Amino acid sequence: MPEHKLLLEHAHDPAYATLDGYLKVGGYKGLRKALGMQRQEVIDQVKASGLRGRGGAGFPTWIKWNGIEKEKTKPHYMVCNADEGEPGTFKDKQLMEQTPFLLIEGMTIGGFATQADCGYIYIRAEFVDAAKALRIAIDEAYDKGYLGKNICGSGFDFDLYIHLGAGSYECGEESALMSSLMGERGMPRLKFPHAPLPTVAGLWDRPTIINNVETYACAPFIIDRGGEWYATLGASTKNSRGTKIFSVSGHVNKPGNYEIEFGTTLMELLNLAGGMKGGQLKACVPGGSSVPIVNADDCGRAILGYEEMSDVKSMVGSGGCMFLNEHTCIVSFIWRTALFYANESCGKCTPCREGTKWMVQILERIVRGNGQPGDAELLLDITKQIDGRSFCGLGDAAAWPVAAALRVFPEEFAFYIKNGRSMVDTPESRALQPKWQSLSTAR
Ligand SMILES: Cc1cc2nc3c(=O)[nH]c(=O)nc-3n(C[C@H](O)[C@H](O)[C@H](O)COP(=O)(O)O)c2cc1C
Ligand code: SF4
Repeated sequence: MPEHKLLLEHAHDPAYATLDGYLKVGGYKGLRKALGMQRQEVIDQVKASGLRGRGGAGFPTWIKWNGIEKEKTKPHYMVCNADEGEPGTFKDKQLMEQTPFLLIEGMTIGGFATQADCGYIYIRAEFVDAAKALRIAIDEAYDKGYLGKNICGSGFDFDLYIHLGAGSYECGEESALMSSLMGERGMPRLKFPHAPLPTVAGLWDRPTIINNVETYACAPFIIDRGGEWYATLGASTKNSRGTKIFSVSGHVNKPGNYEIEFGTTLMELLNLAGGMKGGQLKACVPGGSSVPIVNADDCGRAILGYEEMSDVKSMVGSGGCMFLNEHTCIVSFIWRTALFYANESCGKCTPCREGTKWMVQILERIVRGNGQPGDAELLLDITKQIDGRSFCGLGDAAAWPVAAALRVFPEEFAFYIKNGRSMVDTPESRALQPKWQSLSTAR
């Protein structure tokens, strides 16, 4: 299947980031339509669309929106998760820089449907260009009556704020994000069923919706063209509807963001990105660094859909798709991935705080040529102690890549431990080896 540009159709036209340019190609038709509908009708359209959260977990969007109290008793909030910390993922950045009005309109539609008083876009501070583009677009929207009091003469009021995060991966986890937004440390909170859902008690204990940038950006199309129309996209899959932007990186000729319809194969995505560079396809991490790695054979049969990706024991995740060529040493690659999660662990719970560091120590000694018999088994055991036993999803995200690499490429670990060197030993692979002194932390 070719690229299917819906969100990204006008992304490369600088005029699209201006209100005039946005209106010229149908911008704000969705919001105008929504403002003439009942709030529940808007939510029902989102339900009919089959839209699932694009931040990683794929949770049905309408269930969140429908979970907000209908008889408003207190302020309601909308939050946009624009932290985009997952290595390999860079779609939200492009959406905010080039299509800021899609996000603003989508949040306003969501705000109308859930009776929100205001919204917050929580964006990592490194995304300077994205924050600037949003600032300009929000100001324009206020000037022309698309934000603020009595939007488009409808009587609906909605304010939108930008909040810069400080660049912590953990602050993309929704409860940690809300803590950070409220001025506390970016650490996660107890979750349902041990604490109320954010839709009941989120920001300042008020009903709160939290969705990803790409999720909100879909809402204008769903309302304008109808949920049923949206659901025709991806109809070949079990339960994945619409388009999805994949950030393709690694050893490909044309890295970048590619928007495809669910049901496209992983190999078609690779073709869109210009095919492999520098060698044959060896593996792919299809949905951001936390999702399980897939070998070349499984890449050949992988279909991009939430359920379909589980057939190759992986996930759509946040869509950060990294292709690796034959010169990649999987052990080094996984060591580098594990180091990221260990550094980002907030330290609140023992399995993640201790387990992530311990995995790095073991992987590091293997990559330095000092692996010991039993290291692979020990690593696998540690992943089992972290996965499902940590306070928040970062622990799982740290355990999955290590466990998957041990399952998919056991021979590479065995060889490295036995021989003290990588099984992949070519001039190309040596050039790809990590630079120890600059990357390794003293442990
Ligand atoms: C450690 C961790 C980091 C996360 N980082 C992000 C992120 O950067 N952006 C994002 O949208 N979701 C992230 N999530 C998922 C959010 O917690 C949440 O599920 C998501 O924002 C919900 O939006 P959605 O339903 O539209 O996907 C992260 C989750 C975890 C556990
Ligand atoms: S799993 Fe535990 S230590 Fe790791 S980031 Fe979450 S709360 Fe912090």
